[in-house]
Amino acid sequence: MSCTPEHTISMSRLTGQPRVWPDEGYTRAPYWAYTDPDLYIQEQSRIFRGPVWNYVGLEVEVPEPGHYKTTFIGDTPVVLTRAQDGSLHALVNRCAHRGNLVCREPFGSAKRLTCVYHAWSFTLEGDLSHAAFSQGLRGEGGLPKDFDKTQHGLRKLRVETLCGLVFATFSEEVESLESWLGEVATGIRRVLTRPLKVLGYDTQRIHANWKTYHENPRDSYHANILHTFYGTFGLSRMSQESGMVLDQAGRHVYFYTKAGTEKKSADYDKTASDLRSHNDQLTLEDPSILAWKDEIGDGVSVQILNTCPSFVLHQIANSLATRQLIPRGVDQSDLVWTYFGFADDDEKMTRLRLTQVNLVGSAGMVSVEDAAVCEMMQRAFADGEEGASFIEMGGKTLESGGSSKLSERAIRNFWHNYRHYMGL
Ligand code: FES
Ligand SMILES: [Fe+2]
Repeated sequence: MSCTPEHTISMSRLTGQPRVWPDEGYTRAPYWAYTDPDLYIQEQSRIFRGPVWNYVGLEVEVPEPGHYKTTFIGDTPVVLTRAQDGSLHALVNRCAHRGNLVCREPFGSAKRLTCVYHAWSFTLEGDLSHAAFSQGLRGEGGLPKDFDKTQHGLRKLRVETLCGLVFATFSEEVESLESWLGEVATGIRRVLTRPLKVLGYDTQRIHANWKTYHENPRDSYHANILHTFYGTFGLSRMSQESGMVLDQAGRHVYFYTKAGTEKKSADYDKTASDLRSHNDQLTLEDPSILAWKDEIGDGVSVQILNTCPSFVLHQIANSLATRQLIPRGVDQSDLVWTYFGFADDDEKMTRLRLTQVNLVGSAGMVSVEDAAVCEMMQRAFADGEEGASFIEMGGKTLESGGSSKLSERAIRNFWHNYRHYMGL
């Protein structure tokens, strides 16, 4: 069998046979999808460099002309720049000469982007402006007479922004960012209401395939079960008013909960009494970490938003952050957290947002459990040869489960789209 561009064939390295997706379709995710190194390579071109918009940073991270930020889209190094006219550009950070990294610092400021190897330099828009010794010396060496500078710039990606978030795509075909986000853009607009201010960063190495983490913020079912702090201290419980919103194509999702809206019900009490995460005996000596000011005024204490394939925006109490998922091989991923507030926050609000990083930052008492679960999953299915996730909470279709948080609807939709992108 041959592998055509339209169809991916995943071969088992153990049996030498083509792998087949389970008959149940998107209600199953075979464990080999998280462990197959060949599939990982295909994901890079079909998804990350395919028809999707990838988050690359915040506009405020490159505030002035000449500022740049380096990052990744999948395995590909990318540099986000702000040109002299204020426009934003996303370029593949790979020299057009012999492939060296052009920008090496996380952030910088420059008039030109100059490669350290042979000093080819590029404009902030990515065009080649100068190649060292291109005319040769004393009549010898130099580049051929037909060398055309316009053909040797950095690879340029499409860039679009929404509410201060910057996304880029390799695809010429994919629709505009707004239309690609669909209804889920509402969740971005709800949170990002004014100019932002970065408060800090951390990057967390997760020893698991990127898809274990991508599924996690789409998984509203686990939130009040795995996370002791949510249930026990009432930040988010299944008994509270909540909902889930997907875009039409099911690529993106956000879910939300309103604290303090508990509705008594016998079936909740029956389950909650068995939950490790709901323990009425626990109290905090210093409850300041749980303080919450309803700054948006709609009562939503938690909103977690996920766009395919690698972006999360969270508002959890007053903590605001983006999380960018960068795959680092088939069984490792980096999660880059950018904590932020608004430019007009007073010191008290900034302190509150930073305090809550201890709850929902990468090492926070809630979020630390997400990476831990991803790593435990990877350990459990590392052989990759048999078995599959069972994804039927809320029903078996892309619509079933509706807007209920007690549903794996958003995960079914992810696998549906994944199979489409991958031709599996
Ligand atoms: S590799 Fe960049 S100038 Fe040679
Ligand atoms: Fe979680």
